[in-house]
Amino acid sequence: MRELLYEGKAKRIYATDDEQIVLVEYKDSATAFNGQKKAEITGKGRLNNEITSLLFSKLKEHRIDSHFIKRVSDIEQLVKKVTIIPLEVVVRNAAAGSMAKRLGIEEGRPLTTPLVEFYLKNDELGDPLVTKSHILELEAATAEEISVLREKALQINEVLSNFFADLGIRLIDFKLEFGKDSEGQILLADEISPDTCRLWDKKTNKKLDKDVFRRDLGSLTEAYETILQILGGHQHV
Ligand code: C5P
Repeated sequence: MRELLYEGKAKRIYATDDEQIVLVEYKDSATAFNGQKKAEITGKGRLNNEITSLLFSKLKEHRIDSHFIKRVSDIEQLVKKVTIIPLEVVVRNAAAGSMAKRLGIEEGRPLTTPLVEFYLKNDELGDPLVTKSHILELEAATAEEISVLREKALQINEVLSNFFADLGIRLIDFKLEFGKDSEGQILLADEISPDTCRLWDKKTNKKLDKDVFRRDLGSLTEAYETILQILGGHQHV
């Protein structure tokens, strides 16, 4: 029996024989609105595992390190064990979702410059938006760490937004999580998938991400499969 270390809404984390490495299993569960909307969607785990693996590998080509080691099955990948920094780092290239709503901006309007936001990882509080002062007050990260997170997030955006643009997809916004490894190095962690990004077809504006589920716009697996195919997916283990 593998030892289950953690179970989240979309993933399970298991121990391995190596203390520094854990196994991530992607579940078929879909949740939105802080867990208020739920469904089991066959194939979602496989799609997110594969898409995340491809995107972390792409980032690696650009010398952006992450916790990702390798994909080991349809729904599993090995990653470096890290302690997650309790912040969600959101990068936005265009207004959408909570930002469009909060500020009364039309969805899809490009921003003059990419913008980074921090949200506190706290389900009970509904992951509130936090400023640098809030982060320091809560001791969720130091001032230096906040600068590193912002810089890394913008670098990742540069690589991913160009990569998707070449494939005919607008990367509207996305969420990242970071962790610290045993040496205290800050590494990109968690996942990058249509669950955590807004991806719109450049020509048709069709949404190819979790908004399909959040807003009941059609088949989630069809949308995610489209992204995987565009990325040249179906790598075989
Ligand atoms: O909801 P909001 O507009 O703030 O989301 C911004 C981006 O962050 C979206 O791409 C969304 O999918 C992602 N996100 C996420 N997990 C959350 C909140 C947002 O992946 N808990």
